[in-house]
Amino acid sequence: MNSNKIQKPLPANGKLGVLIPGMGAVATTFIAGVEAVKKNIALPIGSMTQMSTIRLGKRTENRQPLVKDFVPLANLQDMVFGGWDIFEDNMYEAAKTAEVLESKHLEPIRKELEAIRPMSAVFDKAYIKNLDGPNVKKGADKMELANQLMEDIRNFIKLNGCDRAVMVWCASTEKYVEPSSVHETLDAFEEGMRNNDPRISPSMIYAYAALNLSIPFANGAPNLTCDIPALIELAYRTGTPIAGKDFKTGQTLMKTIVAPGLHARAIGVSGWFSTNILGNRDGKVLDDPENFKTKEVSKLSVLEEIFDPQNNPELYGEMYHKVRINYYPPRGDNKESWDNIDIFGWMGYPMQIKINFLCRDSILAAPIVLDLALFMDLAKRAHMKGIQEWLSFYFKSPQVKTGLRHEHDIFKQLIKLQNTLRYIMGEDLITHLGLDYY
Ligand SMILES: NC(=O)c1ccc[n+]([C@@H]2O[C@H](COP(=O)([O-])OP(=O)(O)OC[C@H]3O[C@@H](n4cnc5c(N)ncnc54)[C@H](O)[C@@H]3O)[C@@H](O)[C@H]2O)c1
Repeated sequence: MNSNKIQKPLPANGKLGVLIPGMGAVATTFIAGVEAVKKNIALPIGSMTQMSTIRLGKRTENRQPLVKDFVPLANLQDMVFGGWDIFEDNMYEAAKTAEVLESKHLEPIRKELEAIRPMSAVFDKAYIKNLDGPNVKKGADKMELANQLMEDIRNFIKLNGCDRAVMVWCASTEKYVEPSSVHETLDAFEEGMRNNDPRISPSMIYAYAALNLSIPFANGAPNLTCDIPALIELAYRTGTPIAGKDFKTGQTLMKTIVAPGLHARAIGVSGWFSTNILGNRDGKVLDDPENFKTKEVSKLSVLEEIFDPQNNPELYGEMYHKVRINYYPPRGDNKESWDNIDIFGWMGYPMQIKINFLCRDSILAAPIVLDLALFMDLAKRAHMKGIQEWLSFYFKSPQVKTGLRHEHDIFKQLIKLQNTLRYIMGEDLITHLGLDYY
């Protein structure tokens, strides 16, 4: 099935609505950053669409435009924001609570942030035990809740005069669920929605609402959400791009930078121990073992797939990989992570690498939200539908077609992304062979 019959993208005219379930630390940092960039008082650092260049043609041609000047992306001035949260705080108040950005950055955009108030959320405490809030929808069944979300989306688009919209899930991590019969087909899923099937999570209801309206959906958390056959089916039916899961920031970003290097030079790894402390609301939610499990599964798969122990048993067959997250309130959003990597080289001699990353979680996540919103909108205008594997670059646990190996190596992910952009725009793909220069 060639479901991605790509066409030259339609121009990005008019306003792009960015709809965000979960308006906490990541969402407010993202929105505040874009508003600050719009006012020329900040730079969108970390956003490859805004800051990175892309090589076109041969090295001798010297063509290196910025990505945003190469592909027709929505202009940041044309972006408008809305979303849902279980708390009623406007974006200024929520940003204050999140304690990521300082007053000197929030005050100049206070008016814009105060104007954005979260719509009432679809929420189920069974999926997030450590949270409770007043701003929650009521409905007889899950289908009715989905209809209410669709009504919210239509109203938002109308009120803001949007030409197009995308949805990026930035809400808390839900408890771990395995795909089961209700997730298998769209019919079973819709039946489950009408019967209030407990296996359908709130994030799936948001994704269902978006996809029904042909609105691209990207999943920033490790929840299953649209990574189930029923919603993949809906995405293809409605011609809508989907991508996920779990923004690749912090420790996993470092892993997918360092591990491909060790693998490339055939350095052995006997153990990789990762631990971190995190004190924000995300950390609180992940303090519940059922929610941590969802994150753990997403984080663990990365090394296995980069090192491929089945095909490299002498180097990685015995590797022990452990990941811990510890909730530690004093640090707030400023996560600290430690990695101890036990490696071995020539003739088996052991060595160690220590990585101590003092990062800011939402500062790393915000540019990903921006790029995903812009690229998902681009994909839609290029008539791409279903799973957008070329956006794996941004995810810890990239969604791929069933049966395909994930590609976690960030450098291969980047080449895939850049070649997809070249392909969309009718430019030559770059293989890096280079023999023709000689
Ligand atoms: N910051 C990072 O580096 C990073 C990296 C990867 C993934 N993530 C994921 O991104 C998500 C957001 O992280 P954060 O730091 O902003 O967390 P946060 O706790 O500050 O914000 C999440 C918000 O979602 C809201 N929420 C929960 N369930 C909801 C629902 N059903 N509908 C609407 N709102 C709901 C919460 O009230 C909260 O305000 C988390 O799932 C996190 O695991 C973050």
